[in-house]
Amino acid sequence: MRNIYLIGMMGSGKTSTARELAALIKVPFVDLDADLAKKAEHSIAEIFKNSGEEIFREMESNLLVEQAKRENCVVATGGGVVLRRQNRELMGATGLVIFLETSLEVLWDRVSKEKGRPLLEDFNPKRKLMSLLRARQPFYDECAEMKVLTDGKTAKQVAEEIQGKLNAND
Ligand code: S3P
Repeated sequence: MRNIYLIGMMGSGKTSTARELAALIKVPFVDLDADLAKKAEHSIAEIFKNSGEEIFREMESNLLVEQAKRENCVVATGGGVVLRRQNRELMGATGLVIFLETSLEVLWDRVSKEKGRPLLEDFNPKRKLMSLLRARQPFYDECAEMKVLTDGKTAKQVAEEIQGKLNAND
């Protein structure tokens, strides 16, 4: 089986959905952000603070290249992975890319309750979230072979919906 890559904004539930889906279809679960932080021995927030976004993006792309050599994994990506064309092409070539589509209100409701999202450290974080979503939407749309709406659903429900679609496509 090819990999399954979950893409979408921060707060769309990629990590928890990937974990649920991997358990449902009995394949390994991978969280690229967690792997990156482990490899760098620093949190994502620290990497942004100490080295800047470009270095983080470089590390993210390198890790994706490593992951793409594996098969059979459900991979939770970081929200900005779609920004680089090279990443979009690599995911498309090595897996099924699934976009978790979530409304701005739900995203905001989730991310405003958590810390550790360096891109939202802004004078007006909700406006920043909105502008990130606007800028990225075309990339998510371009990249995704499958789309799932996540508003009002638990990660388990989203994972079950994906499983249903995968079975229907078999
Ligand atoms: C980012 C999202 C984060 C993390 C980093 C950058 C982004 O991952 O990769 O803070 O650019 O949207 P999540 O989408 O898992 O929060």
